[in-house]
Amino acid sequence: MNGNGRKGKLIVFEGIDGSGKTTQMRMLEKFLESKEEVCYSTHEPTDSPFGALLRNCLTGRVDADERAIAALFAADRLDHILNNVNGLKKKLEEGVNVLCDRYYFSSFAYNGEFVPFDWVVELNRPARELLKPDLVVFLDLPSEESMKRVSRRGERERYETEEKQKKIRERFFDAFGRFPDENVVIVESEENKEETQKKIRGAVAPLFGW
Ligand code: TYD
Repeated sequence: MNGNGRKGKLIVFEGIDGSGKTTQMRMLEKFLESKEEVCYSTHEPTDSPFGALLRNCLTGRVDADERAIAALFAADRLDHILNNVNGLKKKLEEGVNVLCDRYYFSSFAYNGEFVPFDWVVELNRPARELLKPDLVVFLDLPSEESMKRVSRRGERERYETEEKQKKIRERFFDAFGRFPDENVVIVESEENKEETQKKIRGAVAPLFGW
């Protein structure tokens, strides 16, 4: 528990590549800290050995079947939630607010391309039962714009073609429709970062009773 005697909040950032999750999450962390809220920022895939193996699969250095990769994402997530050192459940119990760059909605949207959607949902059932986010911030932008931003960064991963991004975005929305019990806010990711941040802060405020 924190000074207020309450559990921390789990705020998840989701979006297609180039949607600005990382920047917006960093801005929100600074804002929350200015309000005396303790924060822990993290991401999936994680930096654990599970996450390291996943990154090797994503770059093609390790050749693995897509079903195994989908299961690995689910395993990485369970370890992220449950491990005794810096597991998310423990952090939240201690009153620390957790900001997480990607969570199970990324599995539905990305891994759903290769593995039946229901299968991915089943794989992630334990994580959903263990730890639902207090808020999911989905940073939305058209796939053409996402590709422009990604090419400006000079990065290319296997998911990064416009047609793919478009399908990934659609699967995010399918998943939001499928889980109406999740607290999801869709925020348009504008060129003006401050404007986007303002909308995110507006969505976060009720969690803290502001
Ligand atoms: P990430 O490092 O967040 O990439 P970026 O910073 O460019 O958004 O994620 C790496 C890749 O992993 C990304 O393309 C999405 C993919 N991914 C999945 O396929 N399934 C998942 O469950 C997660 C969390 C990520």
